[in-house]
Amino acid sequence: MSPVLEIADLKRIARRRVPKLFFDYADSGSWTESTYAANEADFRDIKLRQRVAVDMTNRSVATKMIGRDVSLPIALAPTGLCGMQRADGEILAAQAAEELVIPFTLSTMSICSIEDVAEHTKAPFWFQLYVMRDKDFVRSLIDRARTAGCSALVLTLDLQILGQRHKDLRNGLTAPPRLTPKHLWQMATSPVWVAAMAKTQRRTFRNIVGHAKGVSDMSALHSWTAEQFDPQLSWSDVEWIKDYWGGPLILKGILDPEDARMAINTGADAIIVSNHGGRQLDGAASSIRVLPEIVEAVGDKIEIHFDGGIRSGQDILKAKCLGAKGAYVGRPYLYGLGAFGKDGVHKMYDILKTELDITMALCGERDIENMGRHNLYSVFGEKVEHGPAASSAA
Ligand code: GLV
Repeated sequence: MSPVLEIADLKRIARRRVPKLFFDYADSGSWTESTYAANEADFRDIKLRQRVAVDMTNRSVATKMIGRDVSLPIALAPTGLCGMQRADGEILAAQAAEELVIPFTLSTMSICSIEDVAEHTKAPFWFQLYVMRDKDFVRSLIDRARTAGCSALVLTLDLQILGQRHKDLRNGLTAPPRLTPKHLWQMATSPVWVAAMAKTQRRTFRNIVGHAKGVSDMSALHSWTAEQFDPQLSWSDVEWIKDYWGGPLILKGILDPEDARMAINTGADAIIVSNHGGRQLDGAASSIRVLPEIVEAVGDKIEIHFDGGIRSGQDILKAKCLGAKGAYVGRPYLYGLGAFGKDGVHKMYDILKTELDITMALCGERDIENMGRHNLYSVFGEKVEHGPAASSAA
């Protein structure tokens, strides 16, 4: 077997091991997938500034995200149906995150519940909230997150209505999968997945099932989001949710400087510059393309996090150089899980860390905290001006 050296290797193996309908759920964007593609492609338009003859000993890639120590500037992103990439996926990923000293964010649309994850981990995790029409249910989710010891709430603002992902509709995505001949074949050809799934009872949306009222078909994502999610979500909801939660709040899905300014007014602790991995508004700009203008608009007033298109340690560094405090990785860890379970999440981390660390050294830096625009040669074709004072390698 060829060695696993990059995130693309994990993706290739996950594609072989995970039933197609679940692999495709992770590997999809909405409509033409142009924003999904741009999230990754636009990183290539940022060029690094190489420096030489600089002492590279004693490097540090550790930092903080909303005051929490992280061994690498990443958090595991909230991802729906993580427990369908591998049995008990959320528990495995949260345990890996704890071992790696990075935050794990549990999605509302997870397979394992808040309680399942809390029972199997010690480090506090973050909980991602969707705002439903049923506000009692929203409050009960927040209560459950608080009881579980979650240390931050990540409120998603860009999914009041689900973007259409053609692959999911073509595949007939449900959790658990329906036992049609097509799905049975996909499972029959995924023996590693089936063997692990046979050992768990956690196969449906356990944050919702038995907790929310009036969902007619919980297995089908598009129908229950349409029924349950609140299309009237507004900035005043953000305010009451902040008050009700009472802890650190991170607003996810900000892609516009004007919205970033609105986010400041809510008193949130951080924003995530994000287009939901290209899964919502197809045709929106890539996250990395808008990061600089959002940093310029609000970077001195709120901590800025980033997600969308991170496939290497270099991508994390580029986002960091453009002003993000940290980045969320979603698909990379899902591919790790699908390929090798918990070990695959560790593998993903090792790949990203090695890439980030070597890149930092070759840019002439020893501490990730010192990296900034001065480490970039050009951004989207525009050369970064470097005054003599910016030189750290002289
Ligand atoms: C849920 O967050 C999704 O993008 O499917």
